Amino acid sequence: MEKLLVSGGRPLHGTVQISGAKNSAVALIPAAILAESEVVLDNLPNISDVATYAEILTELGGDVERSDSTMIINPKDMISFPMHNGLVKKLRASYYLMGALLGRFGEAIIGMPGGCSFEPRPIDQHIKGFEALGATVSNDHGSMHIYAKELRGAKIYLDVSSVGATINIMLAASRAKGLTVIENAAKEPEIIDVATLLNAMGAKIKGAGTETIRIEGVESLHGCRHSIIPDRIQAGTYMIAAAATRGDLIIDNVIPKHMEALTAKLEEMGVEIQEFDESIRVIGKPQYEHADVKALIYPGFATDLQSPMASLLTQAQGVSMLTDYVYSNRFKYVPELLRMGAKIRVEGRSAIIEGSKLNAAKVRASDLRAGAALVIAGLTVENGITEISGVEYIDRGYDQLVEKLQQLGAEVWRQSV
Ligand code: EPU
Repeated sequence: MEKLLVSGGRPLHGTVQISGAKNSAVALIPAAILAESEVVLDNLPNISDVATYAEILTELGGDVERSDSTMIINPKDMISFPMHNGLVKKLRASYYLMGALLGRFGEAIIGMPGGCSFEPRPIDQHIKGFEALGATVSNDHGSMHIYAKELRGAKIYLDVSSVGATINIMLAASRAKGLTVIENAAKEPEIIDVATLLNAMGAKIKGAGTETIRIEGVESLHGCRHSIIPDRIQAGTYMIAAAATRGDLIIDNVIPKHMEALTAKLEEMGVEIQEFDESIRVIGKPQYEHADVKALIYPGFATDLQSPMASLLTQAQGVSMLTDYVYSNRFKYVPELLRMGAKIRVEGRSAIIEGSKLNAAKVRASDLRAGAALVIAGLTVENGITEISGVEYIDRGYDQLVEKLQQLGAEVWRQSV
């Protein structure tokens, strides 16, 4: 076990390279199961969720090789093996095994996904999609058993624009007979990334990134090479950290269009932002205006940046309001920030945040983005060392966080406990 120690009060400066997107990677790796020859994924982040997925594919009989940010997956000899627990419990995105195994083998038996549990996260829309495609879904001693003699295209209207359900249905429908239309589909950039990979594998998917996605099923899919899009949440976390520390940071290897909701909100608060083709410069200021932030589905402000943003809002003047319309209670980080002297009150799905100086404390990350929020909070503390436990959550999604922050002038280090 390790903890993170943060001695704050230093503005971040320099250039940070953003890795490939975690939430793409954890969908693209299982998508490779659908191919019958080698899939090469480039620009993979070096995070524990990716390592766990590599182990899962190996356990299913896949041949997985990894070097730096590239993974070569040969799924030719894979089988649909029941994955009851163990590895699938380690990550939320193990639900993509359902769509991928169903598409390739017509059957998937997997335990309920684990991962960050900031609140109950249902998968009813995934199941509704599989059933519409002709699968039967049953719960067998805590494992999902999904079976279809033949998958047939269908029209599926999602009750909520779920990222996971949209991708899972795309995975299975790529190998269904006939046309599948997903209405009220999620529009996140990661969905376009998955569709780009599947199309390079021979799938026929149109409309990814809009609310209507059309998938014409094909007989078989083949290998290809694909480079993962930059991680917009990691980029956003560094943008917020730069502002919170009153730094001057260039965030490189980003798609500025993906950052628009955050960029606009930071500018509204008084942060200076300069946009380039593939990078963004964030110049912090001594004082910030309070803000009203609403986390919504894409292209709205990302719920995954809601917790890091809370730490920045503690540094703004006056009273800010942070409302999450995606998850109703993603506020487990609030008691930890209170321990650091923050003035925050949670009312329903909103956090009301009054600007205040933070102080060092011993705090615990309860999930990945809560961890990012605590690191940012620690970076603003002028005297004392903030101790953050629950580092394993942070390692699930932030590639080389400590090393990158150290390069930017922060005093952050790991300590074994
Ligand atoms: N929902 C349902 N039924 C479903 C699926 C979702 O009611 O069958 C609800 C959820 O409870 C939530 C909303 O729909 O209120 C959106 O959930 P979604 O399915 O879009 O979330 P997800 O696919 O499980 C992904 C990311 C999350 C991110 C959300 C929202 C991955 C692996 N995870 O989760 O990322 O918060 O989309 O953008 O892609 C993170 O990176 O820290 C993280 C949690």
